[in-house]
Amino acid sequence: MLFRLKPEAAQIGMFVHAFEGRWIDHPFWRRRFLIDTPDQLARIRASGIDALVIDQSRSRVAPEAATGAVAIERRSGAVRAVTVERRTGWAAVSQSARQTRPASHAQEKRRAERVIGKSKQAVIDMFEGARLGRAVEAKKLAPLARAIGESIERHSRALLGLVRLKQKDEYTYLHSVAVCALMINFARHLGLDEEEVQALGVAGLLHDVGKVAITDAVLLKPGKLDARERMMVEHHPVAGHALLAQSADIPAAALEVALRHHEKMDGSGYPGGLSGEALSLHARMGAICDVYDAVTSDRPYKAAWSPCEALTAMQSWPGHFDPALLERFADSLGIWPVGTLVRISDGHLGIVTGSGGAAGEAMVVRIFFDCDTLAEIEPEDRSFAPSGGEPHVVGRDSPRFWRFDDWDVVRHRVMAPPDRGAA
Ligand SMILES: [Fe+2]
Repeated sequence: MLFRLKPEAAQIGMFVHAFEGRWIDHPFWRRRFLIDTPDQLARIRASGIDALVIDQSRSRVAPEAATGAVAIERRSGAVRAVTVERRTGWAAVSQSARQTRPASHAQEKRRAERVIGKSKQAVIDMFEGARLGRAVEAKKLAPLARAIGESIERHSRALLGLVRLKQKDEYTYLHSVAVCALMINFARHLGLDEEEVQALGVAGLLHDVGKVAITDAVLLKPGKLDARERMMVEHHPVAGHALLAQSADIPAAALEVALRHHEKMDGSGYPGGLSGEALSLHARMGAICDVYDAVTSDRPYKAAWSPCEALTAMQSWPGHFDPALLERFADSLGIWPVGTLVRISDGHLGIVTGSGGAAGEAMVVRIFFDCDTLAEIEPEDRSFAPSGGEPHVVGRDSPRFWRFDDWDVVRHRVMAPPDRGAA
């Protein structure tokens, strides 16, 4: 049984199933966890969220006894997502009852390969149809977005890892599949409802369809583009939007992302030069997912960056992305930029210092603080594979919470090369 509570009614021992309200107000990087420390409780109570959904079966205390707790009707089957029907006061919650099946990384990799293959072919067919003037049919793409979403749900890293590997001649098509997967993963992390998640998946598949108006000679050119070629490339959001607007069943999110995925927060993007608040959440998400996949893929003019390098670089481009949203995107991937304070499952804190492992998938973290003794320890570099194991990186942590008053100074000191000094 699920119960909805106001945040001030939360107690230690309750298992959080979901947060409701604006995603920006969510106080944690995870959406589901047991409240087991006074600090977690304080952060929940101090947050600006509308409500918490508590899972009774996983709680150590009875949520129904809490002030204002409202039971939520539940259909049979495994819970996959919570959709809030926004009404006045306490709202009813409906749940998607599709069965979820846990899968190993190897099992899901095989399934994900098939999903990617099918999706890539569908994107190729869609691009070829668009070149011939055929209308894009969203109803053909929706099941693919759903299959990609289900694969991510069973094992998020399997499909997201595979779509990074692209041959040069298939980049355009697999980039669309990759942006679809990233958008779905990101949208779920932000707690958007499942209908919106699926629409954003379709938006990922369709975002670059305007590239059918660009010749291959320009699209695949390894060198610098001249002014005419640049104009041709920068026209693709408008061309894509116009093409999609001819079809009746294209989700509004897909139209928006097709038109706005090259806009920047400081207004220096194209085609509209929109800035700040004029850019919707969907447009900002599209811009982040599009660039992240582009820079983590091998291109004719540049070798792929590791996920950590990509996020570090993206964070350093002022005015390009919404910084708070970019942080949430990193959280959604479980990969953080260099310089981020992270918590390790064995009770230590560390700072991300770079990428590790053969494929650059792992993160290297300099461990420097013991949360039990609240004291700094001799710094030590450790590599953490994203596939987990123990100990693992739990997530981003707050320098303010740990009272690192001048965080920039602490970070600089810890990240500085060891002082070999004179003996
Ligand atoms: Fe694009």
